[in-house]
Amino acid sequence: MKKEKLIYEGKAKKVYQTDNPELLIQEFKDDATAFDAKKRGTIRNKGACNNEISARLFGILETKGISTHFVKLLSGREMLVKRLEIIPVEVTIRNVVAGGMAKLLGLEEGKKLKAPVLEYHYKSDALHDPLINEYHIFALELASNKEMKAIARYSFEINHILLKFFDQRDLKLVDFKLEFGRHKDKILLGDEISPDTCRLWDKSTDKKLDKDRFRRDLGDIEEAYQEVLRRVLS
Ligand code: TMP
Ligand code: ASP
Repeated sequence: MKKEKLIYEGKAKKVYQTDNPELLIQEFKDDATAFDAKKRGTIRNKGACNNEISARLFGILETKGISTHFVKLLSGREMLVKRLEIIPVEVTIRNVVAGGMAKLLGLEEGKKLKAPVLEYHYKSDALHDPLINEYHIFALELASNKEMKAIARYSFEINHILLKFFDQRDLKLVDFKLEFGRHKDKILLGDEISPDTCRLWDKSTDKKLDKDRFRRDLGDIEEAYQEVLRRVLS
């Protein structure tokens, strides 16, 4: 597999073309940003951790019948993925009140929700990823009704699978963000699943083991990512 032209550079990843038009290389960076990149930093070995964590989680999901863009790991920081036409909607699932939901509704962090909450955000840094609903998505033709039905179903299934997987590793899956895309006639899960895109709290102490340590200057950031990697691979 030949790594060719850089076609996209985001805040945490670079994406390269390959000699196969259907496949891309996703390279994970150590760069970290928060608050629409107003806060910037580096987390040592984050790229390698997120690459391995995502690969393992995509692998688990595939065995449970969820189709993802993941093909295989290529190196410490790189994975081979299927090329998707990304749908510009971020799907957030919440099991416990935290972050954006605590702020939006004036709630205290840590309250377990009676049922998981699914949110859609329009993927636009310039607009700060505003909260939208299915009517916006249909009216603006971001995705079809059929596609959104599949996305919602996959998202709840993924939550069910990951809640159990993390619980067995003494981690609380508080919330997480997913991105989906079109590949041929199918909707596949894309992007990454990592401590950058999930909130993960230690089950017994509620210690935050995710990017909130960077967002909120809580210290021990690298150690938190390594700890999640260790538990995910166990
Ligand atoms: P929020 O509470 O800030 O809306 O975040 C919900 C989840 O989404 C949390 O697990 C972190 C993840 N997330 C991203 O992956 N990218 C982002 O840009 C933001 C704001 C959150
Ligand atoms: N990655 C996002 C940014 O830099 C925000 C976040 O994850 O908190 O804007």
